[in-house]
Amino acid sequence: MTADQLRKKYIEFFVKKGHKLIPSAPLVPENDPTTLFISAGMQPLIPYLIGQPHPEGKRLVDYQKCLRTDDIEEVGDHVHHTFFEMLGNWSLGDYFKQEAIKWSYEFLTTEQGLDLSKDQLAVSVFAGDENAPFDQESYQIWLDLGLPATRIAKLPKANNWWGPAGQSGPCGPDSEMFIWTGDMPVPEQFDPEDSNWVEIWNDVFMEYNKNPDGEYEKLQQKNVDTGMGLERVLAIINGFADDYQTDLFWPIIQALEESSGKKYVDHLKDFRIIADHLRAACFLLATDIPLASKDDRGAVLRKLIDRMFEVGKALNINKQELARLSGIIPNIYKKTYPDLYTNRGKIQDSLISSFQRIEQIGNTQHSEINNLPKVIQGGSDLIMSSWQELLSKYSYGAATPRDFLKNHNFNSLGSVYAGTVAFDSRTTYGYPISQVEQITKQVMKSDFDQSEFQKTIEALNKEHKEKSHIGGEKRFKGGLSEISNITTKYHTATHLLHAALRKILGSSVAQKGSNITSERLRFDFSYPEKLTAEQLKEVENLVKQTIQESLPVSSEIMDKDLALKSGALGFFTEKYGEKVSVYSIGNFSKEICGGPHVTNTAQLGNFQITKEESAGSGIRRIYAVLS
Ligand code: ALA
Repeated sequence: MTADQLRKKYIEFFVKKGHKLIPSAPLVPENDPTTLFISAGMQPLIPYLIGQPHPEGKRLVDYQKCLRTDDIEEVGDHVHHTFFEMLGNWSLGDYFKQEAIKWSYEFLTTEQGLDLSKDQLAVSVFAGDENAPFDQESYQIWLDLGLPATRIAKLPKANNWWGPAGQSGPCGPDSEMFIWTGDMPVPEQFDPEDSNWVEIWNDVFMEYNKNPDGEYEKLQQKNVDTGMGLERVLAIINGFADDYQTDLFWPIIQALEESSGKKYVDHLKDFRIIADHLRAACFLLATDIPLASKDDRGAVLRKLIDRMFEVGKALNINKQELARLSGIIPNIYKKTYPDLYTNRGKIQDSLISSFQRIEQIGNTQHSEINNLPKVIQGGSDLIMSSWQELLSKYSYGAATPRDFLKNHNFNSLGSVYAGTVAFDSRTTYGYPISQVEQITKQVMKSDFDQSEFQKTIEALNKEHKEKSHIGGEKRFKGGLSEISNITTKYHTATHLLHAALRKILGSSVAQKGSNITSERLRFDFSYPEKLTAEQLKEVENLVKQTIQESLPVSSEIMDKDLALKSGALGFFTEKYGEKVSVYSIGNFSKEICGGPHVTNTAQLGNFQITKEESAGSGIRRIYAVLS
C-alpha cells in the first residue's frame, strides 16, 4: 500500500462515519509564539478541544504534518523521525469511548481499513490511580469486541494517559493499539515491553482537566483525540522492516545509493539520518522560517542541515548533490502537499545558500572561531574571560568556567574551551564541529585532548537538551491550556490594524503575513511605497478610536464562499475547509479567521505603531505594541 492509498482509506473510512475532512495546519503554528512546531495532530485543534465551536462541526478527520525534535538523537533507527504525519479522527464533545474504540477496531481489522488479523492485535487501557479510576469502560468495550483478556494490558499513567506532561490542561486516559511484528505464532500474552509489539494508534479520551493545583476535574466537553503515525503503519502493513522502505522514503534511499555508490544495508544509520533530515528540512524551508534566524526554529533548521551535511560528507555525498536530491521530496508529496511542490525551487536555493553559509561562516562571521587560535595561544586568563562570556550565554548550571570544569571533572582547559566553542558555533550557526576540532588541533598540536573535547560537547548537549525539553513543555503548556491573553489581544489588534490600513490607504492593501509574539505584532501588507508619518498617525489613531469605542467582537460559522461574498476578508483561503469562522469587530472589520479573539476592543488598552519598513518589493511591514 502506498502512503496516498493509506491516507485516502483512513479519510474515507471516517468520512463515512460522519467526519469532515479538515486540511493539515501549517507546520509552524501561525500567531502562536507559545509553540515551536506542530508536534501532534491535536495541537491545531486545541481551541476547539477546550470549547470553541469548530466551523466544520463535531466530528473531524485529517492527516497532519508534525515535527518533533525531542528524539532527534534517535533518528537512524528503524522508526524514529523528526518530521512525520499523523492520521487522526476527533470527536469534539460528540461520540466517546464506545464509538471511538469500535471504529478503531473496525478500521484495523476489516477490508474497509487495514485488514489486519485480529490475532495480531493487543491493546492497553488505563489501570487507574489516586486521580482517576481504572478505565473499566474501555476495557469492557475491547472484551465485547472479542479481544481476549490476555491481550489487554492495564497500564499506569506513564503509559496510558495523554495530555501535557506534568502540566495543566485537558487530558485523559488513552487506549493504545499494538500489532505483533515478530515471528509466528503470536504469543497469547501481550507484553508491552516486548518490542515486537509495535504501537500504531492511540485513542485519547479527554475527559479531565488538570487544574494548576494539579487536581483533576471532569471536563464539560468530552473529546476523543486519536493519532496514528502514518510512516509506521505503512511499514507494518507492507511487512517492511523499517519505515525507510515505504514509498515515502524509498526514492530518496535509492538516490542516495546512486550518489554515494554505497549500499543502504551497509550504512543504515547514515542513510536514514540524511533521508529524515532532508525531508524535514524541505518541509521547514517551504515555510517561511528565515535560515539565518537566531530563534529556536531557525536553530532546529540549521541543526538538521548541518547534521545532514556532516553525515553526507562521511558518505562522499557533497552539498550540491544533497541540494539536488532535495528535489525528490516535493515529488513524493506532490498530491498531498502541493505547497511543497510549488516551493521546490525555493527549497533548493535555500539549501544551497545554507551550505555555502556553513563554509563561509568560519572566515567571516563567527568571532569565537576566528579568535580560537589567539585565545588558546594567549593562555588560561584569556580562555577564562572568553569562556565566561560564552557560558553566560547558556548558563549551563555553572557560574564560572572553573565551576564548569569542576562539575564535569575536566582538566584540559584548551580542549574543553574549544569543545564549548564548537558546541556554540554548531548550535548558533550550524557550523560543523569537525572544523573547530581541526583548528584546535593545529593550534594545540599534541596538547589537544580529543576525549575532553568530545566529552565537553556531550555534556553541553545533554544540558541543552534538558533545557530545551523544559522549554518545549512550557511552550506546549501555553499552547494547550491558555492561549495566552496577550497573544489573543494582539490577534484582535491585528484585525483592527488591517481594517484601518484599508480604510486609510485603500482596498488594494492586502495581508501578506502576520506574526505575533507576547511583545508585539508584526503585519505585512501589499502597498507600493513607504507610508508617510501622517498616514501612520492616521492609521494609529483610527485603531485607537475603535478601542475607545468598545466595539464588540463576535464570530459566526459560515460557508466559505458565502463568507467571502459577504465581504469578509480572507487572504489565505486555500487552507480553509468548506466551513469557516468569521470574526466581526463592530462594523469596522470582518475576517475569516480561526481565532481566538477578545470579546470587546476595550480589552486591548493602548495601541501604538512602533516601526514601518519595507518587507520586500511592494510589501510594507508594520510593528505595533499594546500597553
Ligand atoms: N494526541 C495523541 C498522540 O499524539 C493521539 O498520541
